[in-house]
Amino acid sequence: MGNDYYSDKIINLISGAIAKAIIPLALNSQVVRRLSKTVLIIYFSKSGKTQKMADQIIKGAEVAGAYAILKRVEDCTLEDLIGVDGLVIGSPTYYSNIAWQIKKFLDETVLAFYAKGGSLRNKVCGCFTSTGAYNDGKECLRTLELALGVALKMKFVPGVILESKDIDEDNLSSCYDFGQKIAKELADNTTF
Ligand SMILES: Cc1cc2nc3c(=O)[nH]c(=O)nc-3n(C[C@H](O)[C@H](O)[C@H](O)COP(=O)(O)O)c2cc1C
Repeated sequence: MGNDYYSDKIINLISGAIAKAIIPLALNSQVVRRLSKTVLIIYFSKSGKTQKMADQIIKGAEVAGAYAILKRVEDCTLEDLIGVDGLVIGSPTYYSNIAWQIKKFLDETVLAFYAKGGSLRNKVCGCFTSTGAYNDGKECLRTLELALGVALKMKFVPGVILESKDIDEDNLSSCYDFGQKIAKELADNTTF
């Protein structure tokens, strides 16, 4: 057995290890992205409750087959809207309304996306909010429904409210279910 035998073995081992590392990565990114519908989940959160909702929504959406991207609204640019099949927006309820960071995104980033020829028409949308009080949050969701569903003519999936000071399994499971619902709507949506 010469040196060639050992060098072939080493090359086989290395290429096997590289393939093992690269194939799942490729499957997780480009291939999955091309085969699945993409949903962008954007949220603002100061003390973390809306963020916890977003974390569950993305889990539910991914389990149900969507390619989901999660972004803080402060980090969102109009490029993030390119190519998405769905958009979900989350905001804490502030004075029964959306936080200004979300309004800024709608007024500036979405507008800039449209000014460059982009459109969200007929794409799937949804929204979510966390509140400090019971029986609040509806107006916040309604504002998002009016912006996304009515003004931008997206297909609106009724949103979810986390109405409590504390987060528990029950209200988080409604977020997970909401993520699954969004993924299902995306899969069924063939109108664009
Ligand atoms: C400026 C401000 C205004 C708020 N207004 C309301 C309100 O009108 N109704 C309500 O139920 N909670 C209100 N809250 C409480 C937040 O909605 C609540 O704490 C929320 O869960 C925070 O979300 P976050 O943890 O993602 O930041 C307000 C909080 C702040 C800071």
